[in-house]
Formats: sequence, C-alpha cells, structure tokens
Amino acid sequence: MDTLPAIRARGIAKRFGDVIALDDVDLEVTQGRIHGLVGPNGAGKTTLLGLLLGLAVADGGRLEILGTPVGRTLVAPEGVAGFVDGPGHYPSLTARQNLAALAALRGREAPTAGIDDVLGQVGLTDVADDRARGFSLGMRQRLGLAAALLTKPRLLVLDEPSNGLDPAGKKHIHGVLGRLAADGTAVVLSSHRMDDLEALCSDVTILSTGRVVYSGPLSRLAAENRELDYRVLTSDPKAARVLAAGTPGIQVVDDGTTPPDAEQLVVRARVPVLDELVVQLVHAGIALRELAPVVSPLEAAFLALTEQQQEAGR
Ligand SMILES: Nc1ncnc2c1ncn2[C@@H]1O[C@H](COP(=O)(O)OP(=O)(O)O)[C@@H](O)[C@H]1O
Ligand SMILES: [Mg+2]
Repeated sequence: MDTLPAIRARGIAKRFGDVIALDDVDLEVTQGRIHGLVGPNGAGKTTLLGLLLGLAVADGGRLEILGTPVGRTLVAPEGVAGFVDGPGHYPSLTARQNLAALAALRGREAPTAGIDDVLGQVGLTDVADDRARGFSLGMRQRLGLAAALLTKPRLLVLDEPSNGLDPAGKKHIHGVLGRLAADGTAVVLSSHRMDDLEALCSDVTILSTGRVVYSGPLSRLAAENRELDYRVLTSDPKAARVLAAGTPGIQVVDDGTTPPDAEQLVVRARVPVLDELVVQLVHAGIALRELAPVVSPLEAAFLALTEQQQEAGR
C-alpha cells in the first residue's frame, strides 16, 4: 500500500477575531487508518475538519492532503469528501434524488448503480424514495455518508458522525468505516464518545482549547500508568474499606453517593498498589467479588489531559 500520509499538518493556526480556534496544531494521518479527533466543546475539532475539507483556510502553518500542499484559496482538495456541522441535504428531494443532485453539482452524472450501492452500504435502501424532510438525524447522517462515499474518497472527513444513531445504527456505520479503511481510505472523524473511538480508531488526537494535548496510537494512551478509580466489591465491605484506607498509595474515594454507600467501595490507585490491596484482602479472609475501573482508562486519560490543559489556560 501507498505509504504517503493522507494528512500532514504542521503548526496549523486559525483564529476568529480574538478567539484562537487552533494553535500550532500538528496532525499526521496515514492511509488506511481511522483517526479520531476528541476534545471538549469549542476545542477546535470542527474548525480543523473544515480546513481538511477546504471549507476554510488556515492563518498559518503547512497542510498537505494526499501529498498535495493546500494553498491559500478555498478549494476542496482532490480525493477528499465528508461534512462538518451536520450533513447538508435538500429536504424536498428523496434520498436518491439528493445523491443524484449532489453528483450533478460536482459536474458528473452518477451512475444509478453507484447511487444504489452507496444507499445500500449505509442502510438507506428501504427509504431511498422517501423525501429527506422526514428523516431523523441518524438517517441524515447516513445520507451524508452516502454522499461522501459516492465520490470514492481517499480521505473521508466526518464531524460527529455517530450523533443521532441508535446503537445498531452506530455499529452498522462503524462497519462501513472499517471496510473503507481496510481498502486504504483514511478516515478522520470527531466524536465526544470515547467508547465509539475505542471501538473504531487506531489513533486519536486530543484537542483542548485549540492545542493538541495528545496525538498517537490509542493503545499508548490507554497504557499510560496513571491513577484510576476502581469499584471494589467484597464479601466484607466495612473491613475492606478499613484495609484500603490503611494501605499507602490508596485513596478511598467518595463515589458521590450521599450518604456514602457502605456496600460500595471506590479506591483511587495505580495498578501495582491495587494488586497489593487485592493480596491483602485475600490474606485477611475477605473475598473479592468484583474489581473494575469506574470509567475506562481512555476516558480517564482524556479527562485528565483536558483538565490539565484547561487549568493551565486559566
Ligand atoms: N465561524 C466562526 N466564527 C467565530 N468563532 C468561531 C467560528 N467557528 C468556530 N469558532 C470558535 O472557535 C472555537 C473552536 O470551535 P469549533 O472548531 O467549532 O470547536 P469544536 O468543534 O471542538 O466544538 C470556539 O471557541 C468557537 O466559538
Ligand atoms: Mg464541533
């Protein structure tokens, strides 16, 4: 496979008046990979995706898409498709007519077979001849994806594509994106759901107030050795609580239930210290029934990184 990066961005800057939307952003996305963009509201995700689609021009930095430098004029880079801020559509046209109209706008007639194929891929075959006006957000997301697929992109850019999709719909769309990536298409998508990204992405970039706080493989983010909150269920919650409180490196956390639920013990610790606690529990004749992180390691890493950044910005 071609090893040319789908996206190579260096030092990208973008401001809107006094607001710095993107500040010295680097991004590298390889072909055939699904790259997630995460960050709190206002972090700059949509702005960055818009630059990739040629909807806006950066104020500074260098951007190469599929090997071609992006210039100062507003043009959609060749081989790129997608949408930001929700997919556009003509409400009075059917799903099928929408796709035909979009193809016509691009100055090429789409073969009917191509339209049927993408409608099938995104699961809209049954409503292909219904007007888009009545479509739910999830159906409009599917229509937007179909429109992008029709152009056979080598880079697909999607802003919050899971919004409005039910769990089955999400799984379906994840399947579509996975197959595209397997065929060599690079996919960049934003999401505020870490569980979606865990299911889908090989790499993530975390943005916080316009700056990159992490960019790289998802696996590296998850593996970072940081303190996490764990829920510990045992045969003797009271004794377990006393033991945990007396173990160095372990902090007993109020899990937010008031008054504290005596049955439920939440501890904050790194894995090696947690191992020690488990051994001690068993030594003391207390049976361990369940031990699980309160939030996923990725979610915890994400929260920690974005909180640090926001505190630094204050
Ligand atoms: N067209 C615009 N005009 C003015 N400010 C904007 C515009 N687009 C985005 N911003 C600002 O830039 C920042 C980043 O926005 P955005 O990229 O939409 O973030 P996200 O998609 O991560 O929520 C925000 O502070 C937002 O208010
Ligand atoms: Mg956004």
